[in-house]
Amino acid sequence: MKKHQVIVIGAGLAGMRAAVQTADKFDTAIISLVYPVRSHSGAAQGGINAALANTEAGKDDSPERHAFDTMKGSDYLADQDAVLRMTTEAIECIYELEHWGCPFSRTEDGRINQRPFGGAGFPRTCFAADLTGHTILHTLYEKILEKGVTQYNEYFVLSLVKDGERLRGLVALNLKTGEIEAFAADAVIMATGGYGRIFERSTNAIINTGYGMAVSYWAGVPLKDMEFVQFHPTSLYGKWILITEGARGEGGYLINNKGERFMEKYAPKAMELAPRDIVARSIETEIMEGRGFDPGYVHLDLRHLGREKILERLPGIRDIAMTFAGIDPIEEPLPIKPAQHYSMGGIDTNKECETELKGFFAAGECACVSVHGANRLGGNSLLETVVFGKIAGNAVLRYLDGLEKTGVVAEGEIESEKKRIEEKVKALMSRDSGVDHIQVRNELRQVMSEKVGIFRNGTDLKEAVGVINNLKDKARDIYVRNKSSRFNLDLMRALEVQGMVEVAEVIAKGALRRTESRGSHYRTDFPKRDDENWLHHTIARYTEDGPAFDKKDVVITQWQPQERRY
Ligand code: FUM
Repeated sequence: MKKHQVIVIGAGLAGMRAAVQTADKFDTAIISLVYPVRSHSGAAQGGINAALANTEAGKDDSPERHAFDTMKGSDYLADQDAVLRMTTEAIECIYELEHWGCPFSRTEDGRINQRPFGGAGFPRTCFAADLTGHTILHTLYEKILEKGVTQYNEYFVLSLVKDGERLRGLVALNLKTGEIEAFAADAVIMATGGYGRIFERSTNAIINTGYGMAVSYWAGVPLKDMEFVQFHPTSLYGKWILITEGARGEGGYLINNKGERFMEKYAPKAMELAPRDIVARSIETEIMEGRGFDPGYVHLDLRHLGREKILERLPGIRDIAMTFAGIDPIEEPLPIKPAQHYSMGGIDTNKECETELKGFFAAGECACVSVHGANRLGGNSLLETVVFGKIAGNAVLRYLDGLEKTGVVAEGEIESEKKRIEEKVKALMSRDSGVDHIQVRNELRQVMSEKVGIFRNGTDLKEAVGVINNLKDKARDIYVRNKSSRFNLDLMRALEVQGMVEVAEVIAKGALRRTESRGSHYRTDFPKRDDENWLHHTIARYTEDGPAFDKKDVVITQWQPQERRY
């Protein structure tokens, strides 16, 4: 059995930032499905928010203004104390990255440059061209190497092990060997990112199936606010690759088939830089009402920005557009359509990243603190990873300092869970026929995109719940064609689908229960926000019969909910 004082699951930005925080004092390991620099954080393009007030237009910015914009963007569902903490700690976290060597783009006078992003009152988004996530990922990777963090790459974590109310370890599949391995830990931080691949159209990497959320949920830790799913307004039509909001931040226009900048109708002041929920709905409305281009997209026009600016500020999306659509945005507008991008919901934590299970913490997209409420602002996701990665690391330091003794291993519990998982995998591998797990995955993704998308209604959601329940049953009867042990991705995909159906069920049932519209959750049959009945978080707890729902108060400190206007 492998033993570490701290184990971080997931080597994206939140996970690596957490490991950097604990590694000086405690033996820290990271377990990751992929090599750290291939984590999905690397796909984040446009930037990371912090009220540095580095530009002339942003000189009056402050953490309070950043917090207010975030609250308003969240449709008042975010916890205000957590939001202000994030926006306050943002500044130190950015300078920390800078001092660790992160090559941010610069102003003329050499400061970290900042661009406008949606829903923000000031240019607040620090960036490294349009490769910001990739750049920070490499900075933190160098840092975990420097700190001597042990890496277990290409491991798929399948289960958490508890001893009464305390977390003791985990069980994982070593993809390289096919062995099931046991790990003991005093503290575990979950940082596995989102579930985007539950949807057919998603900007997310193929590794983002939400399995970390599923594993936590199975271990009895509740999920929070899962009905709030973010659709990024601009993904490249047909490929669904992210085309950064930074493109609109730099001045790009959204244009319909009449040649109109249609955002004027929906958000006359903010225009293309309204928050994502509003821009995504506006684009979908244009397409649904026949003002899109065939077969169903609008244009993102960057041509007026000019060659020099596109090459300097947006080289990554130019490359993507040329490679995947054969279009050079210097010469032609890009065909775009919204696609699932981010999960506002996740593992329920407090603002210290603690869950209700002792010794178990969560940070980044897989967690819900909540700082995004019903709709996240662009640029607050990278921020969340570094701020809450650090906070999770600090929470672990406090937790371990408070333990009488670290390194006490619950061998019995861990070994018996390892055995249970080995049996489960053996049973799956010994089946020669049954349900095709890829079919289950494809049907799931289709129903989520069609019925649990940007515009929702009770009839569609009920239908989706029915389909998901059926797929949950089918997922018990799946089989694996590939019987080999080394890098058996067929096995991995089969296991993943069993988590995907559970997470999808929580999303769809949560969306059906919430009979109001708030942020990203828009019900055509309940088009108004209903603070009287729904100004609270949704809590979903695992039972064998599906999620048991409950609610939790939203923390409101200084900003009373108002109608959002942009
Ligand atoms: O549009 C983007 O560059 C994405 C940023 C984000 O999700 O925060």
